Amino acid sequence: MPNINEFQDTIHKIKDEALQEIERVDQSEGLEQIRIKYLGRKGIITSLLKNLKDFPEENRPTLGQLSNQLKKQVEEILLQRSQEIKERELILKKGKPSLDYTLPGRRGWEGRLHPITRTNERIIQILYGMGFEVAKGPDIETDYYNFSSLNFPPDHPARDMQDTFYIKDDLLLRTHTSPVQMRVFEKRKPPVRIIAPGRCYRNEAINARSYCTFHQVEGFYVDTDVTFADLKGILTAFIWEMFGKETRLRFRASFFPFTEPSAEVDISCFLCGGKGCSLCKHAGWLEILGAGMIDPEVFKAAGYDEEKYTGYAFGMGVERIAMLKYGINDIRLFYENDLRFLRQF
Ligand code: PHE
Repeated sequence: MPNINEFQDTIHKIKDEALQEIERVDQSEGLEQIRIKYLGRKGIITSLLKNLKDFPEENRPTLGQLSNQLKKQVEEILLQRSQEIKERELILKKGKPSLDYTLPGRRGWEGRLHPITRTNERIIQILYGMGFEVAKGPDIETDYYNFSSLNFPPDHPARDMQDTFYIKDDLLLRTHTSPVQMRVFEKRKPPVRIIAPGRCYRNEAINARSYCTFHQVEGFYVDTDVTFADLKGILTAFIWEMFGKETRLRFRASFFPFTEPSAEVDISCFLCGGKGCSLCKHAGWLEILGAGMIDPEVFKAAGYDEEKYTGYAFGMGVERIAMLKYGINDIRLFYENDLRFLRQF
């Protein structure tokens, strides 16, 4: 004789299982299979109802009611789910995008700073931290600021049309940031301790190492008793900050019309430590900037007392430093705006 309690348990179990299965299914065919499994001619619930006759007569009404309730519930839920699934299938068939709120969101476009901007900002940050103020000058300059006031003789080769982009006889695109020196000197009395970052232009053949435009950061300091040792000190501190404290500096005698003495500064190759590698072309040294003590002729043009004041100046190429820091071997990459390149920074 079947037990009534067991029968009730069975009903609950069947209900739970059926609900779970229905919930999991997401296609009409799957739902039909579940219907057959529970409500078909040989289905679980159908058999349950058939077996009622095995129970004593007085229990049959209660058990029958329970079984019918179960049947009704399962039928209702099947219908509900089937409508949901049909709706979804219809939307998919129409090709209308269905909203799936569970999909992870798309990531927004993330902008980033250009490697030149980053390098430029890093250079400024270091020098600003050492007490330099930031000044700016125009990209379009006069011959006076770019050349004559900086002691370039009239026939200096840098003035040549092949190097300089001229707008008019007297108007040109600045070839370096040194004109900012004179623009500051005219407005300020020493002490001046300034950096001038900015774009420069040169009419050079374009190749992997030179481009028609590039960036420089100029630095200069004028006061009483400024010496070459101050220049060495500030450049060493800067280079250590930029490339690491193990970096060594080398000053080679050079020439610029606006500095005397002048030097070209090299740093020991940070890739090989000076042993020689492809980056430093097996020299162990990398040329990094130009520098020197400001020529008295420049002070004369500025109206500074050249007996009273001394000063140093240096200028570095931002592209050059960025190329070294990031291991980039073609300057043109900075100006092509190829996202495959830019996304690496
Ligand atoms: N203006 C020089 C150049 O463009 C660099 C420089 C700046 C050299 C300041 C000495 C002092 O090559």
